[in-house]
Amino acid sequence: MTTLSADLHPYDILRWYLEAGVDETMGEEPVDRYAATRRAAESRAAAPPPQPQQRHAPQPEPVRTAPAAVSNSPLPGTAAHLAAECRDLQALRHAMEGFEGLPLKQAASSTVFGDGNPQAAVMCIGEAPGQEEDRRGLPFVGASGKLLDRMLASIGLDRTTCYITNVVPWRPPANRKPTPDEVAVCMPFLTRHIELVDPQVLILLGGASASAVLAKADGINRLRGRWFEFNSPGLPRPVPALATFHPAYLLRTPEAKRDAWRDLLMIRRRMDAARH
Ligand code: URA
Repeated sequence: MTTLSADLHPYDILRWYLEAGVDETMGEEPVDRYAATRRAAESRAAAPPPQPQQRHAPQPEPVRTAPAAVSNSPLPGTAAHLAAECRDLQALRHAMEGFEGLPLKQAASSTVFGDGNPQAAVMCIGEAPGQEEDRRGLPFVGASGKLLDRMLASIGLDRTTCYITNVVPWRPPANRKPTPDEVAVCMPFLTRHIELVDPQVLILLGGASASAVLAKADGINRLRGRWFEFNSPGLPRPVPALATFHPAYLLRTPEAKRDAWRDLLMIRRRMDAARH
């Protein structure tokens, strides 16, 4: 058997490939992703440009640019207003924990803010917390989190070399998908989160994350495996972003792991190229 990566034992790959089993229910209601994308773009446009941070050399491929900030200031108490005032992650966490603008939050036990190393070059973004994440207050700690950890390990990453968060920080009841409106409300928080972490690469886990962050209406099958850019006025330069399948989907659809593996290798190659 050949070795696929210097850091990876073939047994790990086999174990990941062989893993199967449904651990989460799927939403039964149709979701209008076009509306989500439209609203997400509108929310971003309403946020005033925060102070840019200095780090990392630029290395973009221009594909996507967030809309320029408009002159209207966001209303006090909105996510856009609160997020724009945050100068660090602690302030952002505090603002999100105190946010009262989304009923989802009242139903959730925790605000699942983030996990891993906020100084890391790689930032992973999922959809929303599940039951275990809500209970523990950390993203990706349930069954799909275990698979995510193995996916990251397959390209030499872990939670000390990655930062992990979600588009929506509050668990939707019964693990349903967040609605387009819920995503739109949370987008200013996520945008500020990305600005404050200022990663070199974004990994977008699943269609909800990809379409929200890239402001694109296409499904995950069209978005995955291609480099895009996330841009925002609060970033010193655009951040390369690659979408792949959500680990929960991979648990239900093991045959898709082959494509996810290709996506992971694209990320590894990009990181290796950035080092040389
Ligand atoms: N699925 C997600 O998208 N995020 C989590 O944190 C857990 C499961």
